[in-house]
Amino acid sequence: MIVLALHPEWQEMAREEVLQVCGQKEPNFEALIHLKIVNMILNEVLRLYPPVISLYQHTYKETRIGNIHLPARVDLTLPMLLIHHDPELWGDDVEEFRTERFLGVSRASKDQLALFPFGWSPRTCIGRNFAMLEAKMALAMILQNFEFNLSPSYIHAPRTVMILQPQHGAQIIIHQL
Ligand code: HEM
Repeated sequence: MIVLALHPEWQEMAREEVLQVCGQKEPNFEALIHLKIVNMILNEVLRLYPPVISLYQHTYKETRIGNIHLPARVDLTLPMLLIHHDPELWGDDVEEFRTERFLGVSRASKDQLALFPFGWSPRTCIGRNFAMLEAKMALAMILQNFEFNLSPSYIHAPRTVMILQPQHGAQIIIHQL
């Protein structure tokens, strides 16, 4: 909601899509899978602000990943936030909110695995589909009924306390449509 308040043009496009697909009806599963723009927005938000900013792994035995050879008992850090903000992977506009980069997921970055807010391994998040569905459902219902913008008191200061979150809260002004 913060990002869509900062980018009202995308808020409007997302609302148009929701109204086109669901009208004023409560969105159902069928409708939610047709929300392409909302899905692109969620991907771009998860790229810029992944709730989990790093993943940690430990090799319990000698391991090979591609052409990297790792001995046993090595701690590995996968710096998700850095990878999501790497201009070599995403281009010079990496810090900008540019939803259109996800128009074709394979074209969004140089490496298809560069976006991994839910992890990428046999231990990938089991709640992934549920979380995306829930986010789409909530956002769609909010967009059907409300327009929102940022309060002048909002300060953009994401920081990590277990997960990435707005340090001073998310003061949003909501207007019923
Ligand atoms: C936006 C929401 C969420 C994000 C960004 C997220 C992210 C992640 C990440 C990064 C991992 C670690 C994956 C790895 O080690 O490779 C993980 C694991 C996990 N997540 Fe989520 N998650 C979310 C929502 C949920 C929800 C809603 C549930 C449950 C309903 C859930 C359940 C789990 C579980 C059980 C694991 C451990 C899987 C395992 O180690 O086998 N997550 N999640």
